[in-house]
Amino acid sequence: MNALKPRDPRRIETLIGRMTLTEKLGQLTMMAASHTVTGPVIAGHSVGDIRSGRIGNLLNLIGAAAAREMQRIAVEESRLGIPLLIGLDVIHGHRTLFPAPLGEAALFDPEAWALTARESAREAAADGIAMTFAPMLDVSRDPRWGRTVEGPGESAWVAERLAAAKVRGYQGDDLAAADSLAAVAKHFCAYGAVTAGREYASVDVSERALLEVHMPPFAAAVAAGVAAVMPAFTDLAGIPMTAHAGMLRGRLRRQLGFEGVLVSDYNAIAELIQHGVAADLVEAAALALEAGVDIDMVSGAYLQGLPAALERGLVSLERIDEAVRRVLSLKARLGLFDDPYRRGAAAESAAALGERRRLARDVGARSIVLLTNRDDALPLASDIRRVTLIGPLADAPAEMRGPWWSAAEPDAQISVLAGMRAALPRAEVLHACGVDIAGSDDSGIAAALELCDGAQAVVLCLGEAATMSGEAASRAHPGLPGRQRKLAEAVLERAGARAIPVIAVLFSGRPLVVPWLAERAAALLAAWFPGCEAGHALADILTGRTSPSGRTPISWPRAVGQIPLDFGQRRGGRPVDPPGPFSSRYIDESPEPLFPFGHGLTYGRFTLSHLRVVPDSGTESATVQVSVEVENQGRRRAQETVFLFTRRLKSRVAPPLLELRGVGRIALDPGARGTLTLPLAIAQLRSLGPDLEPALEPGAIEILVGASANRAALLTGWLEVRTTPES
Ligand code: NOJ
Repeated sequence: MNALKPRDPRRIETLIGRMTLTEKLGQLTMMAASHTVTGPVIAGHSVGDIRSGRIGNLLNLIGAAAAREMQRIAVEESRLGIPLLIGLDVIHGHRTLFPAPLGEAALFDPEAWALTARESAREAAADGIAMTFAPMLDVSRDPRWGRTVEGPGESAWVAERLAAAKVRGYQGDDLAAADSLAAVAKHFCAYGAVTAGREYASVDVSERALLEVHMPPFAAAVAAGVAAVMPAFTDLAGIPMTAHAGMLRGRLRRQLGFEGVLVSDYNAIAELIQHGVAADLVEAAALALEAGVDIDMVSGAYLQGLPAALERGLVSLERIDEAVRRVLSLKARLGLFDDPYRRGAAAESAAALGERRRLARDVGARSIVLLTNRDDALPLASDIRRVTLIGPLADAPAEMRGPWWSAAEPDAQISVLAGMRAALPRAEVLHACGVDIAGSDDSGIAAALELCDGAQAVVLCLGEAATMSGEAASRAHPGLPGRQRKLAEAVLERAGARAIPVIAVLFSGRPLVVPWLAERAAALLAAWFPGCEAGHALADILTGRTSPSGRTPISWPRAVGQIPLDFGQRRGGRPVDPPGPFSSRYIDESPEPLFPFGHGLTYGRFTLSHLRVVPDSGTESATVQVSVEVENQGRRRAQETVFLFTRRLKSRVAPPLLELRGVGRIALDPGARGTLTLPLAIAQLRSLGPDLEPALEPGAIEILVGASANRAALLTGWLEVRTTPES
C-alpha cells in the first residue's frame, strides 16, 4: 500500500507534481458505481479505470464490503494509491430513515436536526461512505415543485439554522473521524424558484431575492464549515449555475469565502450542451472548470473534454491543478490518506441501531402537524374498541420512506396499520385500501365503506406515493392523486351519517391543496413522510401518547392560483389588509393561506399574553429580550412553539409583511404557566438598502409574537432602533 499521507499541503503539491494529466482528471471525476453479485461495478466503465487513475471518486456504492473493495483497488493497485472519495445521497437517513426534510423542518429544533444528521453520518460512514449530498437548502414557496420535500420550506431564516445544524451533524467535530461525512450544501442557488414550479425550469429572480432569500442558507453552511457545495441544475437568468463563474467564483468563493470543493450535479456539465451554452463536451468542460466546478459528477466531460480544452487554450493547467488541490485537500481532511479504510471498518452494534430507531420514532412523531382538530376529535379515546383505517397509504410501508431512501429496505418501514395494531392491542383495527394512490379504479370503495359501519373512528390515510415528490416530480395539480378524493368524500358521507369522526392523515412531500378535506374531516394531519417508524410515530400522535408539536414550515395554499405563497411578501401600495375592492386580493379566493407558516395544533390549549420587549430600544450592538407568558389551559401536557417576527413600518426599501427572527418552544402541564424569552440581536435587523448593501435603519420596529404567521393572532410590541447611543 502506498504510504503517502499528504496532510501537509507540501505533500499535496509533491503529489500533484507526480500526476499525469489523466490522473489529475481522474481526481476531478466521480462516477456512479453499484454492486452486483459479481462485486462492485461502475456504470459505463470498469474498475480498471480506478486502477489506471481515470476515476478518483464514486457515488452510489452501497455496502461496506463493496466500498472496501473499490478503495483497495484505488489504494493498492493504482500508480499513486490515492484513495477514493465515496459519496451518496444520505438525505434523511441511510438504513434508518428519519422524516423527509420538509417534515423534519416542522420540528423547528436545530438540536434534533443536528442529531439526525449525526446518526445518519454514523450509519453511512459504517458503510464506507465519506460524503453525503446534503443538506439541501433550497427555499421553496411553490408546492408544485417536487423537491420542496427535500428542503427547509419557505423561510430563509429556518434554512439558515437548518444549514448550520446539518453541517455540524454530518461533519461532527472532526471531519477525519471514522463516523464523519463531508456535507455538500446544495443546490446553489435559487433552484427552489424554478418557473411555475416546473422541475429543471429556468430561474429568474431579482438580485434582491437572491441576496435576501436564496443565498443566506448557503452563507450559513459556509460559515459552519461545509466541505462542499453543489451547483443547481438550473440556469439563473440564462446562465446555467454549472457554468456561472459570477455566482461560483464570485459570490460563493470570493464573497462568502468558500474554500471547499464544488461538485457538479449528476451529468450537469454535459447538460451545458442541452442548456445551449456549449457546443460539445470540450466547451462544456471548459465552462464548468472556469466557473470553479472541481468534480464532474458522471458526465465524463472533464475526462473527455479537458485535454482538448487545454490544447485549444480554453483552460489552463493551473485551473486544473487548483481543482485537483481542492479535491486532494478534502481527501486529506477526511483522513482518507491516513487510513482509507477507517470508514466501514467496524459494523455498528445492535444497540446503536435500536437507539437510532427510537430516535426515528421520536422525531417522526414530532414532525407530524395537526392541522385541524374539531371538537377534540383527537386523541382517540383510550378505551376505543374499533378503528377502521381506509386509504392507499394505510398499509404502504415502502411509501413511508419518502423521496430518498439510501440503503433502507422497503420492508423495514412500519406501516400505519402495523403501528396502530401495536398501539391498540385490545382494539379491532380494520383496514381497506379503497383505491390505489393513483389510477382510476374505484371498485374498492364500496368494500371500504362497509368497514366504516360500527367503527368508533375512521382514519383516512391519503396522499402521495413516495416518488410523487422529490426530483423530477413537479405537479401541476398538487391535490390528492387518482380517485382518492372520491374515496374520501364517500367515507366522509358514510361516516358522517353515522356520526363517526373521520381523521384524515396526509402523507405527502408538499402541502396538498385540499381545502374541502380540511373543511369536512374531524381532524386533519400532515404526516409528510415520517420515515422508518412512520406507523408507530403516527399511532403515538393519534392515541395521545405524544402530543403533536410539529408546525408547518411552509404555507398551505387554498388554491393553486395562490402559489407562490409565503408569509414574507411585501405589502404593496394597496395591501391585503384592510380588504376592499382595490386591495391586493383575488376576486374569487381569499389571499390568505389555508394554513399559515408555523401553524400546528397540540393537545394542550395555549394562550399567549404579556408580551414584553426589554429594553425597548437599543443600538446595533444590543440584544433585547422578547418575552411572553404562555399558559396551557388545556387538559394535557403539550409543547407550544412560539414565533418571533418583526415588521419595519417604514424603511428605504418596502419592508416584508413579516420577518422571522426567532422560534422558541415550551412544554407545559395542564394549568401551568411559563415565560418564554427569545433574544433578538438588533444587528439581525440589518436589511439590504436600495444599493443592496446591508444597513441598520433607525426607527420603530413592530415586534410580533404568536403561534404561527397568522397576522391576525399575533401579540404586538415595539422596539426603537437607534443608530447612536442615547445621550
Ligand atoms: C441529482 C440531484 O439533483 C442531486 O440532488 C443529487 O445529489 C444527485 N442527483 C446525485 O444523486
